[in-house]
Amino acid sequence: MSNDIFLQVKQLLTDIESAAIPDAAALEQFRIKYLGSKNIVKDLFAKIKDVPNEQKKEFGQQINAVKLSAEEKYNSLKEKFESGSTSKAADIDLTLPGYPLELGSRHPISIVRKRLIDLFGRIGFTVAEGPEIEDDWHNFTALNTPEDHPARDMTDTFYIQQNPDLVLRSQTSTVQVRVMETQKPPIRIIAPGRVYRNETITYKHHVFFHQLEGLYIDKGVSFADLQQTLNYFIVEFFGDNFESRLRPSYFPFTVPSAEMDIRPKGTDKWMEILGCGMVHPKVLENCGINPDEYTGYAFGMGIDRLAKLIYNIPDLRLFFENDVRFLKQFEGEV
Ligand code: DAH
Repeated sequence: MSNDIFLQVKQLLTDIESAAIPDAAALEQFRIKYLGSKNIVKDLFAKIKDVPNEQKKEFGQQINAVKLSAEEKYNSLKEKFESGSTSKAADIDLTLPGYPLELGSRHPISIVRKRLIDLFGRIGFTVAEGPEIEDDWHNFTALNTPEDHPARDMTDTFYIQQNPDLVLRSQTSTVQVRVMETQKPPIRIIAPGRVYRNETITYKHHVFFHQLEGLYIDKGVSFADLQQTLNYFIVEFFGDNFESRLRPSYFPFTVPSAEMDIRPKGTDKWMEILGCGMVHPKVLENCGINPDEYTGYAFGMGIDRLAKLIYNIPDLRLFFENDVRFLKQFEGEV
């Protein structure tokens, strides 16, 4: 008989420990069953009178352990349900409309670069790329700017300290050389990319900016072809409201060289937007192309400057500060 009662106590303990209590309602059932005023632990305790005297003490201890275990389980779950997610979950109204997803926007420089790639793509130019860390040959020497050439001072170049042969490219003209070295004419490429110069940072200068280089090499390419291409670019990019002019200039890698200025029609202030010219025969030769057989033109423009112009941005630094209030203004542009 007493063995039987001890077994019942043991069973009760197992029941309590393994009781599944998923929510507050189940917990209340648990409380009534094991801790309520008429609970089964009490019922069992009443049977102590049937237990032989020498086992009464042990029996009492075991019943106590059962009670404690029920209390402990109850208290910890009560706390969990009160502070836990179930009450919060009840507050969520699933019929409300969802939160709108924040859309990102393209960076203005990316927008202009894409427009240029599309625009030149329509007349047969494909995109070429080169590294931003360049060697002296591609940034200077092959472009007819050997050491001691005064044109090296036209830009303040960043040198890599550990290796004086390496620079951060100061112009995308480097890609001209890379393409001519590896491809045979006809060549018709544009090379958009980032370039670096050791400038004091102001509203119109930065230590890095973006250029788009163009190069066309074939038999019989003339300055008139260059002019036509640039006129096409101006009309496609700015529309009919701008006029342009070519002005003689100097670059070591082109001869003759020119710069193009534009201004809104009816105004009188010219703005320089690109450099260009016929590829210097020495440059062709440096890159393994026979200048007696082929001629070509090249041009290089500042993407940031174009973006400044069409979006009326007063300060170049805004492009590179990642201020969301600035960037958000270009939402929806592709
Ligand atoms: N590389 C020149 C610069 O950074 C721009 C330039 C001028 C590129 C004439 C050309 C060119 O391809 O023909 O100032």
